[in-house]
Amino acid sequence: EKGTYPHYMLKEMDEQPTVIRKIIQAYEQGEDVTVDADILKALAEADRLYIIAAGTSYHAGLIGKQYFEKIAGIPVEVHISSEFGYNMPLLSKKPLFIFISQSGETADSRQVLVKIKELGYKALTVTNVQGSTLSREADYTLLLHAGPEIAVASTKAYVAQVAVLAVAAYAVAKQLGMELDFDLKQELAIVANGIQTIIDSKDEMEQIAEDYLKIARNAFFIGRNMDFCVSLEGALKLKEISYIQAEGFAGGELKHGTIALIEEGTPVFALATQKGVALNIRGNVKEVVARGANACIIAMEGMEEEGDRLVIPSVHELLTPLVSVVPLQLISYYAALHRRCDVDKPRNLAKSVTVE
Ligand code: M6R
Repeated sequence: EKGTYPHYMLKEMDEQPTVIRKIIQAYEQGEDVTVDADILKALAEADRLYIIAAGTSYHAGLIGKQYFEKIAGIPVEVHISSEFGYNMPLLSKKPLFIFISQSGETADSRQVLVKIKELGYKALTVTNVQGSTLSREADYTLLLHAGPEIAVASTKAYVAQVAVLAVAAYAVAKQLGMELDFDLKQELAIVANGIQTIIDSKDEMEQIAEDYLKIARNAFFIGRNMDFCVSLEGALKLKEISYIQAEGFAGGELKHGTIALIEEGTPVFALATQKGVALNIRGNVKEVVARGANACIIAMEGMEEEGDRLVIPSVHELLTPLVSVVPLQLISYYAALHRRCDVDKPRNLAKSVTVE
């Protein structure tokens, strides 16, 4: 039930700190967070992971790839489920397939699951719905513990997916005997507080939506490294519910084409949470501002500079997507409200896409 909330989407965004805390509880074992032994074994034995997903879940998969590669040293490929059928990559010797799906019912993903099961491979489903088709038909399931997500635009399920993938990568790294220099359980608790701080300053996001998107016909989201993955999600959120044409891309790609679209007043949202590339993304912002863009820099605390529009709480560098996505969700929500769009049920879209 949405109770006193005007929209499910707003309620679900507000629930995000609680969702992170629930995930910590669900996966904690003593001082650590981990996953079941059979899943650990399957992950540890795989020589390559193939992540299959659609939409927002695909965007979570892009972050998951970085976790498994950077934390656990396991190579990962991420595929859009609808494309996988025609463009099946050459598989490694011991692949493990990971299906990420909030609903567990996405037909494009299921079609891949059926195919890889026929080929005799093992599958792990990361889903919010216990007993869903993708969960039943896979060998293993990791639950998101996000609670029902009703709004078509996925918000709390995305942060849950990213957090659960972090837990799985961290757990398998430990299983493989790797030395880890951070405590994920503690870092996730810091993330929950960071998200809460952003939720508590919603008015600021409403003002940003007003200042940057009120009359916009299009908008761009740029970032580098993990911020690039989050900019794809920011753009999807905005187009899905506000119908403003939006594109997310890597900052370095600007000069390879998209910069031609920058005009006087074009909104450009730039994320600056990744230490190694902060200067580069700020360079990109200068390039678009010189061509008239209305740039909104969202920087992580400790990396902010004079003139940045929003400073978000600092968290472990690998976990930045969990907090940087939240202002983008809220900005999209308010942009859609200003345009009197049906926030929870955008036109032409279904919550779970059960046709291929
Ligand atoms: O239920 P799933 O996670 O498999 O759904 C995948 C996409 O249909 C979904 O993420 C979609 O992109 C959302 N509406 C995005 O907000």
